[in-house]
This record gives sequence, C-alpha cells and structure tokens, in this order.
Amino acid sequence: MLGNTFGRVFRVTTCGESYGIGKGSGLSVIVDGVPPGLNITKEDIQKELDKRRPGQTPLDSPRKETDQCDIFSGLGQEGLTTGAPLGIIVYNVDTQQIHIDQYASYKDLIRPGHAEYTFFTKYGKYADWCGAGRASGRETVGRVAGGAVAKFILEKEGIEVIGYTKEVMGIRSKEMTFDEVKENYRKNDLNCPDLVAAKKMIDRILEIKDEGETAGGIVEIRVRGLPAGLGEPVFDKLNATIAHGLASIGAVKGIEFGAGFKVANMKGSDCNDHPYLDGDRVRFRTNNAGGFLGGMSNGEEIVVRIAVKPTPTLSVDQPSVDMYKMEETILSPITRRDPTICGRIYAVGEAMVAIAIVDSLMMAHGYASVCKIDNPWRQI
Ligand SMILES: Cc1cc2nc3c(=O)[nH]c(=O)nc-3n(C[C@H](O)[C@H](O)[C@H](O)COP(=O)(O)O)c2cc1C
Repeated sequence: MLGNTFGRVFRVTTCGESYGIGKGSGLSVIVDGVPPGLNITKEDIQKELDKRRPGQTPLDSPRKETDQCDIFSGLGQEGLTTGAPLGIIVYNVDTQQIHIDQYASYKDLIRPGHAEYTFFTKYGKYADWCGAGRASGRETVGRVAGGAVAKFILEKEGIEVIGYTKEVMGIRSKEMTFDEVKENYRKNDLNCPDLVAAKKMIDRILEIKDEGETAGGIVEIRVRGLPAGLGEPVFDKLNATIAHGLASIGAVKGIEFGAGFKVANMKGSDCNDHPYLDGDRVRFRTNNAGGFLGGMSNGEEIVVRIAVKPTPTLSVDQPSVDMYKMEETILSPITRRDPTICGRIYAVGEAMVAIAIVDSLMMAHGYASVCKIDNPWRQI
C-alpha cells in the first residue's frame, strides 16, 4: 500500500487499522519536521483525540474506544521535543470477538458505501476484511494526533483552526463570526455553534437513526490569523494543498471554498471581494474567495466546507454482491454504527487543515531563506 504520508516538509505518516491481531493492535503516527524545544505533552494530543473519540453521544458509534495516546519518541529527558520525529501511539481496546465474528460472516460481501470492493480488486485475498482495515474511520486517529502537533505549532504563530457542523439534512446553521462560533461550537453533541439549529439537526438525526438509517451533512473549517502570501502559485496552491488533505478523509464527497458552488450564479461584481484600507493593512469587504487569491492566502479568514456522506453502515437490508461466488445477495442489517459522523469528523478536518498550513509555512520559510526579495509587504 502506498501513500500513507501527507505533507512535503512537515510530514505526517500514519499506520494502523481498527482491528488487528492480539492486544497490541492500534494506530500510530510519525510526525517529521517537528521543531526542537516544544513543550508539547501527551495531554495536548489527547485533547484533540477526545474530540473524535467514538461512543460519547447517542449520535455516534457505540464502540467504546478510550483512544488514550502515548508519545513514544521525539521527546528528551526535559520533556521537550528534540527535533527528532515525534511518534504517537493509540491502542484499540474495544475489539470484541462478537464483532470480529460479525465481520467474518459477511467478509465476502460488498457492503454498500464501504471500500471492500476496491480493496478486493487491489489486494485480493489479502485485503483486511475486519473493521475495514485502512478504510476504517479509525484510520483518522493518527491524522488527529499529527494535527494536534500542527495546531500546537500554529498556536504559537497566533493562527487558530476551528471546525464545526454547518448543515445536516437541509437544516443549516446561521452565519456567525469566528468569535461567536468559538463561544458555542462545543456545546452540543453535533458541535454545531447555532444552538437552535443544532437542536433541530439532532432531533432529525435521531428520527433517522430510529429508521435504521444514517445522515450526512456539511462541516465548515475556518482559519484565523494567517498572513497574506502563504502558498505557492501553481501546483502547490494553499487551497489545493488543503483540498488534498480534506479530500483524503473517508466519507468526504465535496469541498468548497468561500462562496463555493454559489459563484456559478453570481455576477462578477457580486463575486469579487472589494479591497479597502484598514490602517496600513489591505482588507476585503467580503470573503467569497474563502481567503485565497491566486493560490495564496489573502489575509482574510480561510473558509472551507466539506460535504460528508451519510455513514455507510446501516441497520436495514441492502442489495449486495458476494465477490467470491459472483452472486447477487442481500446484506443484513448491521448493528454497531454512527447515525452521523458529522459530530466527529470536524476534528479530522481541523487536523488536515492545520497540517497543510504548517507544511506550507515551512516551505515558505525555506524558500524565503534563500531568496533576496526586497518585499516590504512580506509578513510570512
Ligand atoms: C471519523 C470517521 C468516522 C467514520 N466512522 C464510520 C462508521 O462508524 N461507520 C461507517 O460505516 N463508516 C464510517 N466512516 C466512513 C467510512 O470510513 C468511509 O465512508 C468508507 O471508508 C468509504 O470511503 P469513501 O466514503 O471515502 O468512499 C467514518 C469516516 C470518518 C472520517
């Protein structure tokens, strides 16, 4: 399997599955490019992991994973980073035989919306049939742990990344400022900052759950404090790097920046963000561009949304195909499932955006260090 690393300078490599053999099974991340002298602790990582941990609310999977992390490399005797790769590990603790048996009972069947069919075509009989292997939502544990390191670095630069549920089944949160979101976005099981809309969303999801079904939604991620000029103008546009990170998360089916797909129905003068002077700083009156111009940050907030599909595991009968017998069949209801993953996936979105930004910052600083550009505006 290739492609388990994200980043060009600040690089995050993950491994691990949701089920493995024996008590040592788990998930790990190696973070390369960590500056020396950071006082990052296990608690800083744990705080982020707790956001995506399952089994905390009626809206997510009943799987009881504690997701307790350990930092096993990269810290010196004083507890500070040494500059060596930071290694973080989380063990699986809720891998019950009853669920392994359940996976075994339908291991030859294609579960609609899951990745078995493509894994089967690529890895044949060696494909991991238990718990979806690397296609499991648990794969994102390593991303969130790596993202915690990136966020720790960004905080020191005054850059904040927040993610939250924006819409579920057509119920949309109202527009809110960054500070309003920060005040309210952890107050309900869905992590939606509009508390009135959140109640309606949760009620709707619970109705859908009772039908044995699942719900999708839109998660918004915003970044504040990024100076203008970050990103490279061609293939390594900042928005392209962020899109790469976000599109690599399972269940993400759409990405939009700023006004996103609405630009298709706007006139130019409505779409263009008009500049003005705020003291000695250039600002923009609107943010249809989502904080980017020409692939670089323009100094406004980064605003990106991801469309999250309904959790594929359902408690209803679904048409399937037995891949070994090449026969059509029916997949029976499956019990352990998330009615929606919106309330958890935001933490993964935050992590991927934070990693993309730290990686881009390190690239920018590396380039700047060998350039002699007389640029009085340069902030990065
Ligand atoms: C944080 C997270 C948790 C997830 N949890 C589940 C889950 O409990 N049940 C499930 O069926 N799918 C879950 N998924 C979605 C599947 O991993 C994903 O839909 C599947 O691998 C197919 O990939 P695709 O949707 O990108 O094609 C989760 C995804 C993420 C990112």
